[in-house]
Amino acid sequence: MKRVQLPASNPTLKDGFVPPLSRRALFKAAGAIALLQAIPAWARKGAGAPFSFSSVPLSEQADTVVVPPGYRWRVMAAWGDRLDGSGAGMPGNASHSAAEQAALFGMHHDGCALFTAADLPDRGLWVTNHEYLDDGLLHRDGTAGWSAEKVAKAQAAVGVSVCHVQKRAEGGWVVVPGPLARRVTATTPCGVSGPAAGHALLQTAADPTGERILGTFANCAMGVTPWGTYLTCEENFDRYFYKSGKPSAAEARIGLDDKGLFRWHEHDTRFDAGNNPDEFHRFGWVVEVDPHDVNAPPVKRTALGRFKHESATVKLARDGRVVVYSGDDQKGEYIYKFVSRDLYDARLKVGRAHWGRLLDEGTLHVARIRDDGVWYGDGEWVPLVWGQNGLTPEKGFADQAAVLVHARMAADAVGATPMDRPEWIAAHPSSGEVYVSLTNNSERGKKVAVNGANPRPNNAMGHILRILEQDNDAGATSFRWSVFVNAGDPEAKAPEHRGNVNGDWFGSPDGLWFDPRGILWTQTDVSADKLGQGPYARMTNNMMFACDTETGEFRRFLIGPKGCEITGVAMSPDLRTLFINIQHPGESPTERLDPARPTAISSWPDPAFGRPRSASICIWREDGAEVGV
Ligand code: FEO
Ligand code: CA
Ligand code: CA
Ligand code: CA
Repeated sequence: MKRVQLPASNPTLKDGFVPPLSRRALFKAAGAIALLQAIPAWARKGAGAPFSFSSVPLSEQADTVVVPPGYRWRVMAAWGDRLDGSGAGMPGNASHSAAEQAALFGMHHDGCALFTAADLPDRGLWVTNHEYLDDGLLHRDGTAGWSAEKVAKAQAAVGVSVCHVQKRAEGGWVVVPGPLARRVTATTPCGVSGPAAGHALLQTAADPTGERILGTFANCAMGVTPWGTYLTCEENFDRYFYKSGKPSAAEARIGLDDKGLFRWHEHDTRFDAGNNPDEFHRFGWVVEVDPHDVNAPPVKRTALGRFKHESATVKLARDGRVVVYSGDDQKGEYIYKFVSRDLYDARLKVGRAHWGRLLDEGTLHVARIRDDGVWYGDGEWVPLVWGQNGLTPEKGFADQAAVLVHARMAADAVGATPMDRPEWIAAHPSSGEVYVSLTNNSERGKKVAVNGANPRPNNAMGHILRILEQDNDAGATSFRWSVFVNAGDPEAKAPEHRGNVNGDWFGSPDGLWFDPRGILWTQTDVSADKLGQGPYARMTNNMMFACDTETGEFRRFLIGPKGCEITGVAMSPDLRTLFINIQHPGESPTERLDPARPTAISSWPDPAFGRPRSASICIWREDGAEVGV
């Protein structure tokens, strides 16, 4: 394959910067532990050394989870399970009520994280998002007799779940009872902070203060802060709203239409944007959840901008400012980076000392990539600051809140670079490299011109972009970039679908996460209407790969059940357990199953249950050694 050589300034381990975190802060979140462990663990593996596991063969596509020989897996928390680990709280025919659903794990698990304490490494808090809904599966008779009760049940099945988990002797983890277990749903009271808090654009008849929002939903990928909180992202929130007639330019820019896919507006006027235009502005944010305080309301951090957020990957700048990378997952949308004004101070206690400080004051930037016609080039992070770069009242931006609420339009105005659907963003644990999965874009070359960083027209297979921050510093205002890999099947009929993957081929990369050793875990989300067809003829199930970014090798680690996507990934502090989410097993091409035949495509994980269920699973080695190496 053609390997891209970065310039000589490509960082090496000796350039690695380990941020000044206190031990207490460090051990608060497993994600933050990565920062300390990065160098020794990587050294053990040895840069460029081959993975020790054997690749799962492509032929192993079945209605189950397949892992390499010597590995085991088990379901930890499935849709409808009780939060105390006592098993399913819903029947297999999904006849449970909205009130019952509100106390159970939601559906369609996505981003996730494990939080552990230093002195209790085998216990922790498991936090997982619930991204969206299949109403054919959620209700016993699907959408028949659509009612307020069905809307309430849908609103109870989205959001975030927090539960306690514990390692068992054999290596797997299970959900256990504990005081911090809770559900955050589409009706949970949330706070709002940052420049748009209380602004007229966020004020509604039900909340004239503009500071108290009911719920979060469309929660896709995520981030973990060094102070031990969880960032959940609101992605395709527009699909829950409805507006009859023509939306305004700003509403249309972020997807409001008269389809009302989830039909919430029919029984909850909050979602009728014709009557409640500002409720629509109260979603599309990054929301901070403190899993260590069951009474703490989630807070929408408006300084990070409003768009279809996928991932909120946190890194510390060289000087200690907090950096949050976020993609906007839609065809031709942008990559953003927030940089805090203040420094992360490891001497402060974790949690509330930082709560409401670092993510409320700072600058949101958008990536502008210089398309100079070469394979790698330059880029800059353009600040989205009111009064600068044409973001003025004359151009329709009355103040900074307007810039943030209408972040896409602000990014348009400063000439941001349209990308092929930015999904997850992974920051290398010790270098300044940042990897962005660009899942696919059928409109590239049609509605959106090809550019250097999005080089393939009708990009059906997707690619991964590598960003190298200037001076290896996440706080930099400029960067260099290269296309790390063009995904594809080397045996595909069309040359543009073959890609240049070194090792096991894949398409539609979505989940992307560096473990503390620098292994880039890559997960696919080929949509149900594309699996097994066209360029995906040889791929009927979604998969997960380990990638060594030194050699560029991708190796197939896992194949999921029928009709699922693989998304979300975390590890235990000892790196001996890997956690992922299996989202929407059995999904049909319409994304809505026939309630009379819910197991038509998949009955995973339990054929006797009666319905397929999304689930968090854990994976470990029979010999108890580290996963992946
Ligand atoms: Fe929710 Fe962009 O995946
Ligand atoms: Ca995704
Ligand atoms: Ca996706
Ligand atoms: Ca999906």
